[in-house]
Amino acid sequence: MTPVPRRYHITTFGCQMNKADSERMAGILEGLGMAWSEDPNQADLILYNTCTIRDNAEQKVYSYLGRQAKRKQEKPDLTLIVAGCVAQQEGEQLLRRVPELDLVMGPQHANRLGDLLEQVFAGNQVVATEAVHIMEDITKPRRDSAVTAWVNVIYGCNERCSYCVVPNVRGVEQSRPPGAIRAEMEALAQQGYKEVTLLGQNIDAYGRDLPGVTETGRHLHTLTDLLYFVHDIDGIERIRFATSHPRYFTERLIKACQELPKVCEHFHIPFQSGDNDILKAMKRGYTIERYRQIIDKIRAYMPDAAISADVIVGFPGETEAQFENTLRVVEEIGFDLLNTAAYSPRPGTPAALWDNQLSEEVKADRLQRLNHLVALTAAERSQRYLGRVEDVLVEEQNSKDPRQVMGRTRGNRLTFFPGNIEQFRGQIVPVSITEVRAFSLTGEAVVTVPQSLALA
Ligand code: SAH
Ligand code: SF4
Ligand code: F3S
Repeated sequence: MTPVPRRYHITTFGCQMNKADSERMAGILEGLGMAWSEDPNQADLILYNTCTIRDNAEQKVYSYLGRQAKRKQEKPDLTLIVAGCVAQQEGEQLLRRVPELDLVMGPQHANRLGDLLEQVFAGNQVVATEAVHIMEDITKPRRDSAVTAWVNVIYGCNERCSYCVVPNVRGVEQSRPPGAIRAEMEALAQQGYKEVTLLGQNIDAYGRDLPGVTETGRHLHTLTDLLYFVHDIDGIERIRFATSHPRYFTERLIKACQELPKVCEHFHIPFQSGDNDILKAMKRGYTIERYRQIIDKIRAYMPDAAISADVIVGFPGETEAQFENTLRVVEEIGFDLLNTAAYSPRPGTPAALWDNQLSEEVKADRLQRLNHLVALTAAERSQRYLGRVEDVLVEEQNSKDPRQVMGRTRGNRLTFFPGNIEQFRGQIVPVSITEVRAFSLTGEAVVTVPQSLALA
């Protein structure tokens, strides 16, 4: 039997679900007595938690992996693990490509890392990619932040957007019971966390796989009900959620966000394309008119709400005019933040097989034009903060300027102001905004003089 490695390193690619999974896997490794190593080259166990949403994300993994496989030839007791979405997609094939691997494990197996490692340390090469019911997590994650935390509420995705690998690699929707979510949030509050982001690839689907319907036939457990259910936890000051799907976004949810003071006025609702024919080919299940209605509704209830989204350019068959429809939507809606991507054909997805693929040149050109517009519109949206006082939840020191701390507004704008992190970490501080950039703000803490002193 190989001795248990003592130092571990995890590199995480991809989305917030992967980051949350990595934190839980790190918790499991620490539970086994291992210690974090920032430098992978000093570690005895290396875990790559991988992403396959686009080809470039996947290729990055292979280049990292190649280097460590080589290192293993000199250090045979190095344990090499590929977890996450590439692991799920490639499975056994990964072992053929990189025979040095000890463990290949899909995202549904993250909480089982301890059991799987036992098999590895007994001398086996292990592949864990079969679909499973996700175990409730009993380990304590090793969280990156001491202030904000992610809490999974639904795993997987039952949509079938024609470009997307997520349903293949994350499996069918599995909602966690509301009681388990609340219990995790209560524990977080006790540990001093101030903000929770509820996570799901399609968070509006929360609860539809759980038993129970109301008298009117509505599911008993929806995201809206969940927000009401977890809202009163003492100590948790802010609640966010992501990612929303326009197809299922309800007015009831918008009303709840307005009514519940802890729920932040920030909505991440990808629209993917501004053209109805492209949306149809993507199998998104809504029109751009419906999308605009949702945004209008949000702004009717919360005029200052921050809106962010994801967009894809260069989807198969996208014409210049259809791309311009996307530009128009970006211009008209005024997003606070937009994640943009050029379409990347993915294995096992319908759109990858179509014969109307666009050239890399056209895709790159459209992406560049879109990004240019995004920077302009985001800078314009930032202007509204100038001179205002915003509540900022302080997370960390500004890594580029130790004299400053960084935090976020309720609308999720990154904000910097002069201050000592030991004094401000975890505090919600009113900050007078003096400088605005496209994606971040700078200001000064507003010092409120206690009344007793002011009178003296
Ligand atoms: N569940 C979310 C997002 C999932 S993946 C949703 O439904 O919107 C994150 C983002 O990656 C997507 O919103 C999409 O913009 C992008 N994406 C997914 N597949 C892609 C592909 N094949 N090529 C380019 N971008 C892609
Ligand atoms: Fe992918 Fe669509 Fe599911 Fe989002 S909703 S994860 S884009 S299949
Ligand atoms: Fe990537 Fe998997 Fe997330 S493919 S975007 S890490 S769900």
